[in-house]
Amino acid sequence: MKALNFGSLNLDYVYQVDHFVGPGETLSALSQSVNPGGKGLNQSVALARAGAPVYHGGCVGAGGELLAALLEKNGVDTRFLRRVEAIQGNAVIQVAPSGENCILLFGGSNQQVSRAQIEEALSQFGPGDYLVLQNEINNLPLLVDLAHERGMILALNPSPYNERLTGVDFAKLSWLLVNEVEAEQISGSGEPQAAWEAVHSRWPGVSLVVTLGKRGSVAFPAGGGEPVFQPAFPAKAVDTTGAGDTFTGYFLAGLMEARPLPECMVRASLAAALSVARPGAADSIPTREELENELARRS
Ligand code: RIB
Repeated sequence: MKALNFGSLNLDYVYQVDHFVGPGETLSALSQSVNPGGKGLNQSVALARAGAPVYHGGCVGAGGELLAALLEKNGVDTRFLRRVEAIQGNAVIQVAPSGENCILLFGGSNQQVSRAQIEEALSQFGPGDYLVLQNEINNLPLLVDLAHERGMILALNPSPYNERLTGVDFAKLSWLLVNEVEAEQISGSGEPQAAWEAVHSRWPGVSLVVTLGKRGSVAFPAGGGEPVFQPAFPAKAVDTTGAGDTFTGYFLAGLMEARPLPECMVRASLAAALSVARPGAADSIPTREELENELARRS
């Protein structure tokens, strides 16, 4: 069993600020850095650091070579990455003293995924393999339809939630992973139980995970099992960027190892807590060894 993550790679231009800049305001940042990011790249790194065999499909544009190199350094197979004539996808991120962020995205190279690239990559995957998706690349409906035809297990983190998801057939997913804002956008309620009832009545085969920040996370399995609530591990937040991606990667890696759902939730939640205590997105994701040590220390 292996995972193909078709997703974005971004250069994150990160600015530490004492408050988020407002309309018409000019604000001096306290510091600046350029870091590897993108929900796709972050989730591939999280999957790989968690120990899963992962391939990354996506597009690298001008200035993005270091992102491909970072994936490779982390053990992600990059044979399905393509070089394209476009500026590398990027994000401008403000990080407040609370660790909270706000993000401005530019798709760039991430919007150049072609049908031929998708067909070539998917031809190497089949029943039981995972396809992991977020909403920062083009051609998502095609990816979902073709991967479903091949019998793959589909997991979607529909972030950012916007009109580009309109053509995606959610009934073909096995897992939907959302935060409370996205839960509300999809179902009309940010309250997990109500979101689950709405999702389940619409797409009965889809299992749902809702992350709730400091309030923890909850998983609702489609097969009729009990929901699993996982409290958040306490953490001193330095930078929450990429915490959701860390959760998603570790959660899916747990499923791929056939761990019981409560164990997947513990590991994902602890990995996310470790990530928020460090700056950056991909850079902040813990290794499997760090996670095991932390689990042992807390038991
Ligand atoms: O989820 C965090 C990521 O969102 C950042 O790395 C940024 O690139 C945006 O894609």
